[in-house]
Amino acid sequence: MSISTPVFVAALVALLGLLYFVFASFAFGAGYQPAPRAVVRRMLEFAEVGSADTVYDLGAGTGAIVFAAARGRGARVVAVEVEPIRVLILRLRRWFGGPRERVDIRWGNLFHLDFRPATVVVVFLWPEAMARLRPLLEDQLAGGARVVSHWHPVPGWTPTEVDPLTKVYLYRGVAARVGPSGPTPAA
Ligand SMILES: C[S@@+](CC[C@H](N)C(=O)[O-])C[C@H]1O[C@@H](n2cnc3c(N)ncnc32)[C@H](O)[C@@H]1O
Repeated sequence: MSISTPVFVAALVALLGLLYFVFASFAFGAGYQPAPRAVVRRMLEFAEVGSADTVYDLGAGTGAIVFAAARGRGARVVAVEVEPIRVLILRLRRWFGGPRERVDIRWGNLFHLDFRPATVVVVFLWPEAMARLRPLLEDQLAGGARVVSHWHPVPGWTPTEVDPLTKVYLYRGVAARVGPSGPTPAA
């Protein structure tokens, strides 16, 4: 049985589209993989996210963490995402489900962001991106800010708490890690 040309072309286009969607953003810091629900729950629990928080999701994907933090915990969320189709999905999700006043979606490169307003930073990125991000967080985050990471720990930091089951790492006292000779281990 031979495959007809239109079916072959459609399958090829679908495959290329999928490869683009998942892998193209690797060039910026990570491909696409949504955090599973149990992971999102653990991240928000670990960081004790509440309505007083401003959560920065660095590489927001299609919003697994964004909408759980905004809807489930009442937090204000800044969602930065570099890949335009995912930005469109984020905007559609906010449009249809809200909360519009608490979810700020930014299409752009997370490394160009000002992190100073963040009280909580959530990341699910690749190790090279985490290494690049670390000095920016050390420079900019306020004393009480928490950083939660999934899958990869922040290189050079000692986590305050770890959940080995969901591979979630919590860091507190980020600003205090920076001394004259560079970052110090967590207390
Ligand atoms: C592994 S996914 C995690 C998505 C989401 N945070 C979650 O947990 O469901 C990483 C996301 O980061 C985005 N990303 C990678 N590098 C980025 C960069 N430099 N600036 C903004 N977004 C980036 C990718 O496009 C991808 O959607």
